Amino acid sequence: MGLLSGKNALIFGLANDKSIAWGIAQAFAREGATLGFSYAGEMLEKRVRPLAAQLGVNFVEQCDVASDEQIAAVAERARAHFGEIDILVHSIGFANKDELQGQFYNTSRAGFHLAMDISVFSFVALAKAFQPIMRPGGALLTLTYYGSVKVAPNYNMMGVAKAALESSTRYLARDFGPQGIRVNAISAGPLRTLAAMGVTGFREMHKNFAEMNPMHENISIDDVGNAAVYLCSNWAAHVTGEIHYVDSGYNIMAAPEPEKKGE
Ligand SMILES: NC(=O)c1ccc[n+]([C@@H]2O[C@H](COP(=O)([O-])OP(=O)(O)OC[C@H]3O[C@@H](n4cnc5c(N)ncnc54)[C@H](O)[C@@H]3O)[C@@H](O)[C@H]2O)c1
Repeated sequence: MGLLSGKNALIFGLANDKSIAWGIAQAFAREGATLGFSYAGEMLEKRVRPLAAQLGVNFVEQCDVASDEQIAAVAERARAHFGEIDILVHSIGFANKDELQGQFYNTSRAGFHLAMDISVFSFVALAKAFQPIMRPGGALLTLTYYGSVKVAPNYNMMGVAKAALESSTRYLARDFGPQGIRVNAISAGPLRTLAAMGVTGFREMHKNFAEMNPMHENISIDDVGNAAVYLCSNWAAHVTGEIHYVDSGYNIMAAPEPEKKGE
C-alpha cells in the first residue's frame, strides 16, 4: 500500500522531464495514485505523451488555463473519466521575458495582467471548476517561490504574482476547509526548468543558492515530489493554508557564512 493508494490525482503543468510536475508525478505514481495530466498546448504534446506512457497514465488532456472554456472542458472530461478526484496539483507559472529582467517599475500593464492571470488566477479558476468533483479528504497544491517574500533580482513580476498566489492559497484553504479539502503550497528552491530559464541571471542565482543554504545543496524535483506526497496524503490530514519550504533551509538565513581564514 502506497501513501496515495486509492487516490485520483490530476497534475497541471507538465512540460518535460525537468518539470517540477514530473517530479511530483513520479512520486505520486510510486505511492499508488491514479494519475491524470494536463498540459498547456499542442507544442508540448510530443513531450508529454511519452512521459505519461512511462507511468501508464491514460488521461492526458490539453488545457490552456487562460481559457475559461478549456478549464470547463477539462473538468468535464475528468468527471467522465475519474468520477471524482482527490488531488489537484497546479504547477503552472508564466510571465513574459520582458517582465523578468531589469527594473520592476518597467512592468507593463499587459505583462502584469498576463502573469497574474496565468500564474495566480488559474489556481483559483481550477479550484472552482474542480470543486464539484473533489472528494472530502482531498488536497489542492500549488508551487511558489521565496521571491514572493523577499526581493530576488529580475524575478520582479513573478515575485508579486507568487505573493498573490500564496495569499490565494490561504483564502482557498478557508473556502475548502468545510468540505474537508486542504489547500497548500510548496515554496521550492531554484530548479533548472524551462520556466526558470526565463528569469535573467537564473544560472548564477542557482549557483549562489547552494553556497548560501545551510545544507549547501541544491534541491531536486524528487525532493519536491516527496514533499508533495506528504502534503496530499492523509499524513497531512489537518495541514492547510501552509507555504511549505523545500529549499535546503535557504529561507532561514539572513546572511551568508563569513569566509573562513585561509580560504
Ligand atoms: N524552477 C524553479 O526554480 C521554481 C522554483 C519555485 C517554484 N517554481 C514554480 O513551479 C511551477 C512549475 O514550474 P517549473 O519550474 O516546473 O517549470 P516548467 O516550465 O516545467 O513548468 C511550467 C508549466 O506552466 C505551464 N503553463 C504556462 N502557461 C500555461 C497556460 N497558459 N496554460 C497551461 N499551462 C501553462 C507550462 O506549459 C509548463 O508546463 C511554476 O509555478 C513555477 O513558478 C519553480
